[in-house]
Amino acid sequence: MKSARRINTRRIITRWFAFLALLACLTSAPGPVNAVERCVPFNEGWKFARGEQPGAEQPNFDDDHWATVRLPHDWAIEGPFDPTLNPHIGALPISGIGWYRKSFITPVITANHNDPSKRSYSIEFDGAMANSRVWLNGHELGGRPSGYIGFGFDLTPDLAPSGKRNELVVRLAPEIDSSRWYPGAGIYRNVWLVVTGDLHVARWGTYVTTPVVTDTLATVAIRVALRNRRATHADITIRSIVQGADGVEVARSDVPATLEPGTETLVRAQLDISHPQRWDVERPYLYSLITEVHQGERTVDRYLTHFGVRTIRFTPEGFELNGRRLKLHGVCLHHDLGALGAAVNRRATERQLEIMKAAGVNALRTSHNPPSPELLEYADKLGLLVIDESFDAWKLPKASNDYSKYFAQWSERDVRDQVRRDRNHPSVIMWSIGNEIPEQEQADGWKEARRLTAFFHEEDPTRPTTSAFNLWEAAISNKMADEVDIPGLNYAPTHYAELLKNHPAWIVYGSETASCVSSRGTYHLPIEKYTKHGSLQISSYDIVAPPWAYCPDVEFAAQEANPAILGEFVWTGFDYLGEPTPYFGWNEDNSRDWPARSSYFGMVDLAGFPKDRYYLYQSVWTTQPMVHVLPHWNWPGYVGERIPVMVYSNADEVELWLNGRSQGRNKPRAQSVEIPVGPNIDPSLKFTSQYRLLWNVPYQPGVLKAVAYRAGKVVAQETVRTAGAPARIRLMADRDVITGDGDDLSFITVRIEDQAGNLCPRADNLVTFKITGAGQLEAVDNGNAATTESFHANFRKAFNGLALLIVRSRSGAVGPINISAIAEGLAPSHLKVIAQSQARSRHVRKIS
Ligand code: GAL
Repeated sequence: MKSARRINTRRIITRWFAFLALLACLTSAPGPVNAVERCVPFNEGWKFARGEQPGAEQPNFDDDHWATVRLPHDWAIEGPFDPTLNPHIGALPISGIGWYRKSFITPVITANHNDPSKRSYSIEFDGAMANSRVWLNGHELGGRPSGYIGFGFDLTPDLAPSGKRNELVVRLAPEIDSSRWYPGAGIYRNVWLVVTGDLHVARWGTYVTTPVVTDTLATVAIRVALRNRRATHADITIRSIVQGADGVEVARSDVPATLEPGTETLVRAQLDISHPQRWDVERPYLYSLITEVHQGERTVDRYLTHFGVRTIRFTPEGFELNGRRLKLHGVCLHHDLGALGAAVNRRATERQLEIMKAAGVNALRTSHNPPSPELLEYADKLGLLVIDESFDAWKLPKASNDYSKYFAQWSERDVRDQVRRDRNHPSVIMWSIGNEIPEQEQADGWKEARRLTAFFHEEDPTRPTTSAFNLWEAAISNKMADEVDIPGLNYAPTHYAELLKNHPAWIVYGSETASCVSSRGTYHLPIEKYTKHGSLQISSYDIVAPPWAYCPDVEFAAQEANPAILGEFVWTGFDYLGEPTPYFGWNEDNSRDWPARSSYFGMVDLAGFPKDRYYLYQSVWTTQPMVHVLPHWNWPGYVGERIPVMVYSNADEVELWLNGRSQGRNKPRAQSVEIPVGPNIDPSLKFTSQYRLLWNVPYQPGVLKAVAYRAGKVVAQETVRTAGAPARIRLMADRDVITGDGDDLSFITVRIEDQAGNLCPRADNLVTFKITGAGQLEAVDNGNAATTESFHANFRKAFNGLALLIVRSRSGAVGPINISAIAEGLAPSHLKVIAQSQARSRHVRKIS
């Protein structure tokens, strides 16, 4: 009784605050609805329960005993990992029913504002996993089977009068075997309340293109979809204002229009930017378009779109960005954010892309679904090109409950919505109609390809379509490959030359490459291309790959030998949850493979720590001098035996030193290193790589140092030292000042060091964390793909010397966040991260 009352009091207080916050948002600025206010986050104060909840869609349902959650929310990531669940999708409880309810009060609009009866309310879900159904005040608004596509509903007809309570309810039913990777479960992307007048820019209502771009002028063509909810027509003016990145206006135009009653009208505008700044991967300059709807003297809506001025050109000779040839150094990324699961987070997304960018990555393929809006926002900001992919399956299934169940009914709608949502992003350069679609092998597979390509072209004639073909021979012979503008080839480096010869007019790229597997910091001797390893880890000498795949070097050589190939998209940039290949292979004895539950494909592990391969790519894709040496230098029991030492560098020459004695100099691209490969690459099972240097060094503990030279001068060096026993913990935050908004994160590397501060490369100490002050523990990880340890605990074992602690700020809390880490037998470590007050602008939705 007592606790029920306490819960009730808490609930009332929470709801009262939510109401005040919403009211503040809606009434803070005088007069017109502006671009900031029209879209407010609707993530706080949701109630959640698993399992079927009879009657939960009804407004008066009692949800007091439900948990209170903040969106984005992934219910499955809390686990536990379960051996009876499918490891290909992460062995986490993603299936079942989940209910969300949110209570909110229709705002009271003060007299000096627009007439409240003329307000229009809608709700936008950036994505909910999956099979959603949504009700407002007991009335079902609709739903969406796909978890990856954004959807929204008009709330206005069912909204309670001003000052009265509403109940918004969502039921999700993600299914088992719905995917080939971890999909997550829940309202895992952001939710927004959109409040406008009754004349307003429609959802995803602007389409901005730049048909003419020269150094002196860019023509900006704008198409605006406007909604008139009134029963009478309305004469309006559309004002388009373009601002540079500094907020200074560079162009404007006014276009009069008449909006027909109760419908949507398209209005076009055009303006010129003189001496435009280009959006480029090196300097991603963004303009803002403010679209204002004026009626007489009043501004009745204001809508914000970011766009870039850039040209893209695909030719059989290669890809050009702004007239400059650019090889695509791409990675494929699944949508999960490691220990955070599928729950979208801005900082985690930004961090992922920053880590990729630092390896020389200039392009992403959003395998195999439309990404979060935040991913595209950061791709725009950081200068990364994007292949925006729609599907992993059409009508023929790859998993028993995958999208094939919904394809016939939903594919057109899902594709059109994908394009309308994403087409203003300068980062997006291609639309992918699908990945390794089983219809590749069907005689009439081309029909579906033609149909989908047409939708993409209708919605956006400025970008080509592509599809990732693994059975490209079949797709060529049945003409499916002809139905996309740019066929992508998965795992075909040894066929590029023949394909280009046979199809000289084709524009081709490696849509999926490498699929090399490794575990960060793990080295198995001797170097061997095995299938599986008893430790459930994979050696990081970067040679192991499943039968269809190969080490990165093979692709580098093929790309260089065939410069017309646009580039490659490595499988994958980051490790991801699920698909623990080579463990849990199909039709194999997998009895010893548990608990392998996440991928080994990443050049970066699940926690975000680079593996050696990351530096191999960096050595080929970047010019800033770098050198990387592997393995670690702790080989007790190997004294006097030869240890293979590999070096990745983009310098002219590298000298390797052990304990002050030179082991000789080697020149990158001049030394040939023999690497074991599969029969898919060469019948000899050997490949000669010029992308790595190798020394076989008789092991003595001490200091191994690689020194890189350009033109005889030292330009980079890296040292690996034999570490003593673990003695202390070191905590290192990626950012020690974060925003106190409840969303921002600090990613803290936990390093196990010896007395002298060297990384202990095999340490697996159990570290326990304590966090006080203005933040809270969000998740822990260590990048180990084969463990059932929970991501949601205040402790974690190190894996090969490292662990990760993710700290989240608290909404509205500012001040120090005190973090301590302790472990038995080790000196503890303390760290302070500061949460500072949130800039209101951080919450503003970038509508584009
Ligand atoms: C590809 C597939 C990817 C992933 C990869 C692993 O065939 O498109 O989704 O499964 O193999 O190598």
